[in-house]
Amino acid sequence: MAAKIISGNEVGEKIREELKEEINSLKGKGVTPGLATVLVGDDPASQVYVRNKGRACEKLGIYSEQHNLPRDTEETKLLELIAGLNEDPKIHGILVQLPLPKHIDESKVLYAIDPSKDVDGFHPTNVGLFFTEKNFEDMIGKQLFLPCTPHGCIELLQRSGVELSGKDAVILGRSNIVGKPVALLLMANNATVTICHSRTKDLDKICQKADVLVAAIGKPKFVKADMVKEGVVVIDVGINRTEEGLVGDVDFEAVKEKASMITPVPGGVGPMTITMLLANTVKSAKRTEKMMA
Ligand code: GUN
Repeated sequence: MAAKIISGNEVGEKIREELKEEINSLKGKGVTPGLATVLVGDDPASQVYVRNKGRACEKLGIYSEQHNLPRDTEETKLLELIAGLNEDPKIHGILVQLPLPKHIDESKVLYAIDPSKDVDGFHPTNVGLFFTEKNFEDMIGKQLFLPCTPHGCIELLQRSGVELSGKDAVILGRSNIVGKPVALLLMANNATVTICHSRTKDLDKICQKADVLVAAIGKPKFVKADMVKEGVVVIDVGINRTEEGLVGDVDFEAVKEKASMITPVPGGVGPMTITMLLANTVKSAKRTEKMMA
């Protein structure tokens, strides 16, 4: 039987509706959530991502400003811009689009962002805070900045009614942005987690055991139907530009015939990343409002 399609557009829309109410309530108390995005260089994909983030803010009534810097910008200039944004009371969230040009030290830049404005959840303080938390409910209850794409994956699963406790979750990819943090979030939801990467032996066998499979390796249509078991839930984080357009890391047409649920590309995880970024910006603005009260 063909899988149920998990729509990130629909789930994201629902969450954004919820956020709109919170934003209006904050505005009523004199606080307008504000997000600053920083893009260094002219990578076309990054330009699209950053523009989409700005548009999403506008739709919800979040103040946003976009800082476009030339590719040859010196690291010190970028650090100065971040220092200014750290001090700017209009700004509750700062996002520096990755990857950065090679001459800039990515860690140094991410560490320079004030952890209380780190809506990407990439600063070691925020990574540490959610690393040390055992349960997902506590992570949410304590209003931690969870990294956007991994958090978006969990929202998709939870809001689609997928029970994670005791399930075998297999993750393809060990990146800092997706693979590692999504493993922690799945574990915090009581799944048994295996992370696979380029050196993993018997990859097919491991994937075939997965109740939930998260693919985040950046290889078009890498996951084939014979690599998954009947009834698997598939979250495809890949966004690959190919001659046939955008495709995920999963061979969607073939795998959807075996899966019970699957996310499409585009329209799956992508819209959730932006939505969770907006959610973190609102979370940050709420903290400011509490400090003012
Ligand atoms: N590049 C790819 N994904 C992301 C993300 O989630 N945040 C930032 N800042 N850059 C990215």
